[in-house]
Amino acid sequence: MERSIRKKIITGNWKMHKTIEQALDFVKRLIPLIQESDVQVLLAVPFTVIYPLTHEMDCSPLVIGAQNMNDASEGAFTGEIAAKMLKEAGAEFAFINRKMKRAAEEGLRPVLCLGETLEEYKEQKTEEVIQLQLEEGLKDVPNKALRQLILAYEPVWAVGTGESATPDQAQAVHHFCREWLKERLGKEAAQQIIIQYGGSVTPSNAGELLSQPDIDGLLVGGASLSLETFSQIVNDSTKKSLNI
Ligand code: PGA
Repeated sequence: MERSIRKKIITGNWKMHKTIEQALDFVKRLIPLIQESDVQVLLAVPFTVIYPLTHEMDCSPLVIGAQNMNDASEGAFTGEIAAKMLKEAGAEFAFINRKMKRAAEEGLRPVLCLGETLEEYKEQKTEEVIQLQLEEGLKDVPNKALRQLILAYEPVWAVGTGESATPDQAQAVHHFCREWLKERLGKEAAQQIIIQYGGSVTPSNAGELLSQPDIDGLLVGGASLSLETFSQIVNDSTKKSLNI
């Protein structure tokens, strides 16, 4: 019941991969591969390819966003990038960390990543760590701005390691986040918020992860770089969200 109100979101995180030429080529070939898909597909790309993707081609229905941003509106920050620059370049979302307020002010959809380290995991401190990260990351943010939030649970030990959390482990943390959100926002609003899982997602574990009631999407790193694996994850996710 609860799941049907949340459309699943698959986010590809390219990290420091793909030139402008490679990105345009990839997206041009990806779109026909995922045409039948019913999930929302986001791509977090390097800064240099945001403008070409959003202005030199029609990349809909993909949503293009940034991997990082600074929380100042402007200033003498070498190598940093401001939310309004990203917005102007065509980005619609950005990964954030204590930058929630600025992202919301500039109309970027914020993706807040949470996750415990291997050491914290072994010491069974996951919930404690996640709670702190939620409290800090969402401190002073008006509840209205939180409606646009995407949370991504990304255990540090699972990112880029080939070792994913099990569906049960991930579900437990997602459920914990949902309960925290209920306390903060009330039940109805908390049920609308997307909580994605990220960390060594592949075509072989995507389906099972997405079958969990509180896993609303996936944040895919390595497997988003290949047309074959990424389109497979998107298309399998569509089947999961339609229950076929
Ligand atoms: P991965 O990366 O899928 O390569 O583990 C996840 C991420 O981008 O955070």
